[in-house]
Amino acid sequence: MAATFRPSRRFFLKQTATGALALGLLPLVGCAAPAWGAEAQAPAAGAAAAAKPKKPLVVYFSHSGNTRKLAEIIHKKVGGDLLEIEPATAYPSDYQATVDLAKKEQQENARPAVKTKIADPDEYGVIFLGYPNWWSSMPMPVWTFVEQNKLDGHTIAPFDTHGGGGLGHSVDDLKKLVPHSKVLKGLAVRGTAAGGAEKDVEKWLEGLGNALIMTTTGNPAIYPDGAY
Ligand SMILES: Cc1cc2nc3c(=O)[nH]c(=O)nc-3n(C[C@H](O)[C@H](O)[C@H](O)COP(=O)(O)O)c2cc1C
Repeated sequence: MAATFRPSRRFFLKQTATGALALGLLPLVGCAAPAWGAEAQAPAAGAAAAAKPKKPLVVYFSHSGNTRKLAEIIHKKVGGDLLEIEPATAYPSDYQATVDLAKKEQQENARPAVKTKIADPDEYGVIFLGYPNWWSSMPMPVWTFVEQNKLDGHTIAPFDTHGGGGLGHSVDDLKKLVPHSKVLKGLAVRGTAAGGAEKDVEKWLEGLGNALIMTTTGNPAIYPDGAY
């Protein structure tokens, strides 16, 4: 009977602080199932040995720096790679001009060119995708990035910063953009609070449940849906 592994907040924090020490004697995940992984769901014989662990990717777009701060906090907790989505043409430095251009791009369902590319999307398990709430959705360069890098099929954990509108309808839009992906519960943080959002991030990661497991490094390792 498979019980779902749900790290408690205390477990999460304790392991983050003392991970290597506490788990030092456990075999590396991916070589063999750790005791608590086996408890979550026993993998088929040989499957654990064959599966190559995948890294988390924290990838984000940020115009004025708030989402970058939040992305850095998430990256500090989950490890893996951190990548910024850069538009090929920078948005105007004038705030109102950016607001107007962003609205026009959304109305036209535009795909503004982006410079950023993921070399090998298959290296990654869960993709943490961050953006500012722009007109209640994702900025259009994020749409371009998701399509060009063929993120459909990956497990995606969305997060945003906003000026009061939370996630808006961005997660619904994302689900339509990546119909073959599992889109996890999103995190919304006010832009002005992004730099001090550690607690929000911890609570969110813990709430993602058995998508997150601990490794010998003390960081949560993110596995694609179904790996456990
Ligand atoms: C073009 C544009 C549109 C925005 N639209 C919204 C919105 O619809 N709802 C909202 O709550 N905040 C909105 N904001 C505020 C941003 O979401 C917020 O300031 C965010 O933290 C900015 O993140 P960044 O510093 O990473 O760019 C908008 C900001 C801009 C520039």
